[in-house]
Amino acid sequence: MNENIEFLQAFLKNPGKVGAIKPSSPELALKMIEGVSPDRDNTVLELGVGTGAITKFLQTVLPDPRSYLGIEIDRDLVRSLRRNFPDMAIVHGNAMNTWAIHQRSGNGKVGYIICCLPFVSLPKDVGEKILLEIEKFMDQGNCTFRTFQYAHGYYFPSAIKLREFMRKRFGKSQKSPLIVKNVPPAYTLTWSS
Ligand SMILES: C[S@@+](CC[C@H](N)C(=O)[O-])C[C@H]1O[C@@H](n2cnc3c(N)ncnc32)[C@H](O)[C@@H]1O
Repeated sequence: MNENIEFLQAFLKNPGKVGAIKPSSPELALKMIEGVSPDRDNTVLELGVGTGAITKFLQTVLPDPRSYLGIEIDRDLVRSLRRNFPDMAIVHGNAMNTWAIHQRSGNGKVGYIICCLPFVSLPKDVGEKILLEIEKFMDQGNCTFRTFQYAHGYYFPSAIKLREFMRKRFGKSQKSPLIVKNVPPAYTLTWSS
């Protein structure tokens, strides 16, 4: 099925969880993976895999499939991701359980968290729990957390809250220029521990 249609179907089924009407553009995907250089002891965790718009670029920088773990909550998307990325470990699960899912995966230490979750439209308690999960990986040191925020939602309370949460613990973010070729335009934000 066409990726845009599949994504739109997921959005119509659950707008709050999907949080966008189109998959990320190649321009945003390339910005999301900039500088990502994983290996078996420095693995990548992708949260909110969607239709794999960023995964297909991540795939090109993986030395082997064991360097990657993806978590996606929508069962239909996971089914199709497993068809499209048969060598990559994509778990049907909730990012609220990221630490336990990673422990069970047998993958090495996480060096990169590529987070595509729509914090702006997720329930407050879900967003807070996910941030606490992310903090556990960051607290291990040498971990980079990257997410994107849409320009129109940049000053929404939950978007500010995420930035404040990360800033207090890991300092000022690195913010990309506005990626205007994405629909809607977005910034990437990066913190490292
Ligand atoms: C904005 S879309 C991003 C999809 C894709 N990474 C992209 O950039 O095009 C957000 C994705 O996060 C997933 N998602 C939302 N809440 C989640 C949760 N608690 N755990 C795992 N995945 C979640 C949605 O189903 C959706 O596929």
